[in-house]
Amino acid sequence: MNDIDELLSDGIKATPPSFVRSILKAASDPEVTSFAGGLPNPISFPQQKLLESMERVVAEQGAKAFQYSATAGIDELRQWVADRYNHRFGTDYVADDVLITTGSQQILDLLGKVLLDKGDGVIVEKPTYLAAIQAFALNQPVFYEVELTDEGLDIDELNAALDAGAKMIYLIPNFQNPTGLTYTAEGRRQVREALSGRNIVVVEDDPYGELRFEGESLPYIGGTNLPHGVVMGSFSKTVTPGFRMGYLLTKDHELLRNVSIAKEAADLHTNVFSQYVVYDYLTHNSLDEHLVKIRDLYGAQARTMVEAMAEYFPADVSYTVPEGGMFLWVTLPESVDTMELFDKALARNVAFVPGAPFYAEPGSRSTMRLNFTNADEDTIRDGIRRLAECIREELGA
Ligand SMILES: Cc1ncc(COP(=O)(O)O)c(C=O)c1O
Repeated sequence: MNDIDELLSDGIKATPPSFVRSILKAASDPEVTSFAGGLPNPISFPQQKLLESMERVVAEQGAKAFQYSATAGIDELRQWVADRYNHRFGTDYVADDVLITTGSQQILDLLGKVLLDKGDGVIVEKPTYLAAIQAFALNQPVFYEVELTDEGLDIDELNAALDAGAKMIYLIPNFQNPTGLTYTAEGRRQVREALSGRNIVVVEDDPYGELRFEGESLPYIGGTNLPHGVVMGSFSKTVTPGFRMGYLLTKDHELLRNVSIAKEAADLHTNVFSQYVVYDYLTHNSLDEHLVKIRDLYGAQARTMVEAMAEYFPADVSYTVPEGGMFLWVTLPESVDTMELFDKALARNVAFVPGAPFYAEPGSRSTMRLNFTNADEDTIRDGIRRLAECIREELGA
């Protein structure tokens, strides 16, 4: 008999376990073609170059690379992040606008702690990144979901949620996880207009922005345009997720000061050895050349998956066609419950993530997320063919 339940906080009881993490074990069987994970392809890990950087860091930084360090992160890396954004978007970020974090996931946890009390409103996309739901749920907020469209957000729903009162809006404007959708320039303008004049923190989570294999990068909605704009970034999908290196950029220094206090309480500072190694890697190598390889690979994999779906899926199944990132989203006829389909697909050695866990409130059960970055093109085609067989069986087609 375990009476720990009586001792648990309301916050942890309100927090769902990660469904993705629970199915990854089943999907990791080498016989299974897994479209379930969210793992970068190992090609994105420049292992030899990182080894060279580690040796240089030990030789050049000595004890500094092993000592306690500043909560904000090392200045060189903060400046590098500011410069990169200024170069890409014509912004005017400075090092003091940047906080280096333990993965960008930590930012979600910190923002939740800093902004949300029980019952406070947070606006999220419908569907949204499930680990953001987890991070915010610890604070027991009220989730206002706003439907994603091909352009961006449903503006009427957004205005209704804003009128209901929310402290934060959390958006993933580029190659969204889970849907692969990207807000258009007009969609961004409409959302910015709806948010203008409202006292709300506008968080744009952008771990995939540099993985664009089609089209042009678009400016952020909030960023430096709105007073409480926060942009989140990460080295997980461009260099390595194992180092757990993320960052936020904001011009709102009062918000940043409070986030830094929450970070002090959480972990004092981000792993300083990893910061020096990543900074050394970035200054001794061309990230842009490295990104070309990742984009070419992911672009080809995405095209293969889309072509295979066009060939094998029944006509009443629809799917998104991403311009970058790692995922796409499939919508099946409503009669199909993808939670049930998951087990049948696994019996045929193919795995995906059912859509349900990506909704903050109980939502569609006939959707699924597919990852295209972790299988070669032949395996993708064959996996989609087998998945299509399961879907046809389910539909009796
Ligand atoms: C939308 C989104 N935000 C944040 C993260 C967290 O990334 P990390 O903590 O590795 O930077 C992920 C990881 O998959 C993600 O998809």
